Order: sequence, then structure tokens, then C-alpha cells
Amino acid sequence: MQTSDVTVVGLGAMGVTIAGLFRANGMRVTVWNRSATRVAEEVARGALAAPDVASAFAASPVIVMCVSNDDAVDTILAAPGATLAGRTLIQLTTISPESARRGARWAREHDGHFLAGAIQAAPSQMGHPDTPVLVSGDRATWDAQRALLETLAGGLVYLGDDPAAAATMDLATLSWVYGAMIGFVHGATIAQKEGLDVATYGRIVRDIGPSFGAFFQHEGAVIQSGDFTVSESPLRISVDATARLLETARASGLSTEFPALAAGIFARAARAGLADREAAAIIEVMR
Ligand SMILES: NC(=O)c1ccc[n+]([C@@H]2O[C@H](COP(=O)([O-])OP(=O)(O)OC[C@H]3O[C@@H](n4cnc5c(N)ncnc54)[C@H](OP(=O)(O)O)[C@@H]3O)[C@@H](O)[C@H]2O)c1
Repeated sequence: MQTSDVTVVGLGAMGVTIAGLFRANGMRVTVWNRSATRVAEEVARGALAAPDVASAFAASPVIVMCVSNDDAVDTILAAPGATLAGRTLIQLTTISPESARRGARWAREHDGHFLAGAIQAAPSQMGHPDTPVLVSGDRATWDAQRALLETLAGGLVYLGDDPAAAATMDLATLSWVYGAMIGFVHGATIAQKEGLDVATYGRIVRDIGPSFGAFFQHEGAVIQSGDFTVSESPLRISVDATARLLETARASGLSTEFPALAAGIFARAARAGLADREAAAIIEVMR
């Protein structure tokens, strides 16, 4: 018998935030977590505790899971008696595309529905009108669960029926984040070496972030169109800029690891005859 509106499986930093947002929206929440301490804390805040995974899944029409990774998901879905029987599993664990496909298959085999979401925000950023979460899976399930997901994140982006699409797009956005992170830290070494204030550097990066975001949006549209006619930034500018980064690193005794990678890619693109194409044409030598 169903005893709550939604079940949250996994009470790490993100799962606790998710359970709290559901409660704040007046929902009755059942929780399950591998270790008991967090469960007791949630019960003290008004949640219902399920004794095992099967009961947690049976307690609500919708189960939202948010645990560490693919392995944790596989372990939980293999728990004795875990089934859906008409219920919906919304997987908010950051998982691989293959794990998302496995999850969709598991839901089908257990007579249920499945959505996969990739959270693009920290716990403290959840529940805001613009909190970004990528979602994919069967459209009818998306239509049915959209309002519930909006209690967690106002900036939902639905990527279509393929259950793996959110996890795949998450790999793309992560690539951007880690590329930017490594570049940012290299920039910090330059600032430090020259005695500039690194906190000021961080503030400047925040301030120029939106305009570079708009630039990347443009470059994405260029790559999607396949037309690399110069429209914003000729690739040759980046050949010079990244060569300058490399020369400066060598001259100042800084690590050349990042600038060598960046300069190497742009130089290779120039040698391939792309110098007078739009900057995003480096994709031709990166595939
Ligand atoms: N925190 C963030 O900033 C953030 C941002 C975006 C996306 N996410 C994603 O959200 C997910 C959860 O992150 P989090 O920050 O909540 O992680 P976390 O605080 O480390 O919590 C991990 C959760 O997974 C559970 N778990 C781990 N292995 C398990 C297993 N084998 N069987 C059952 N449960 C298991 C843990 O249970 P125990 O309590 O028993 O250890 C705990 O509930 C991750 O996929 C993460 O990538 C997090």
C-alpha cells in the first residue's frame, strides 16, 4: 500500500536536499539510505523511514534515487524484492550513459517508468527557478513528472526520449567544466607568479563568464551547422593567443602542460588549413 507521495533513495548531501525540497512543498516523503544515521535525521524532520529497498520502492508512486555512482545504483536495483509495478523511477544519480540504458531496461522489466536526470548544480543551488537539471526518457513519463521535478529545479532541460541523453550531455558539460577548471588554475599560476591578486582574477572570470557563455553558445551552433565560415572569431587569433601562453609559461618557468595542449591543438588546426575558419573549426582535428 502506498504511504507517501514520493520516496527518496540515498541521503547524501544531494539526497537530503532533495528530500527537504519535497517536504517544503508539502509532500509526504519516504526515505531509504544504506547507513542509518542520515535516515534518523530525516525522520526527525518529518520523513517516513523504509526498512529496506523493496519497501522504499513500494511506499510511493515515484521513487527519486540520488546515490554516488553507477555501482551504487546497480547494487540498489539488485536488492531483493525491488520492483516498480506501475511506479516511476527518477534516477538523479550522476551516471554513465550505459547505466541510464540499464536503468530504463530495469524499469521496463519491472513494469514501471523511468527518467534520468543529470543535476548541473550544487546542493545549495537546488530549488531555485533557474536551477539546471538535464532530463531524458520516455516523453509521457516526462509530461507526468515534470511538475514534481520542478519542485527541485526550475531550469529543467528535457533532451528527448533516449534515456541516456541526459548522462551523455552531462559528459559534454563536464568536459567544458574541467577544461575551464584546468585553464583557470593555469591562469592562477600566472597571476601568482606576477604578484597579482588571485581573488581579483576569480572575480574578473565571473564577470566575463556570461559573455564567454554566449560565445560558446554561438560556437555550438556553428559546429551543429557545419559551416565554419568566420562569423565571430577567426581561428588564427587563437593560434597566436595559445602560442603566446606557451611562450610565456616557458619564459616564466611555469608548467607548460596546459598551454602546450591548447597551443598544440590550434597549431595542428592551422597546419590542416583551418586558420581562416571560425575558431570552433578545431573540432576537425579533435574528433
Ligand atoms: N553534491 C553535489 O554538489 C552534486 C552536484 C551535482 C550532482 N551530484 C550527484 O548527486 C549524486 C549524489 O551526490 P552526493 O553529493 O549526495 O554524494 P554523497 O554525499 O557522497 O552521498 C552518496 C550517497 O550514496 C550512497 N551510496 C554510496 N554507495 C552506495 C551503495 N553501494 N549502496 C547504497 N548506497 C550507496 C551513500 O550512502 P551512505 O550514506 O550509506 O554512505 C549516500 O547516501 C552523485 O551522483 C553526484 O554526482 C552531486
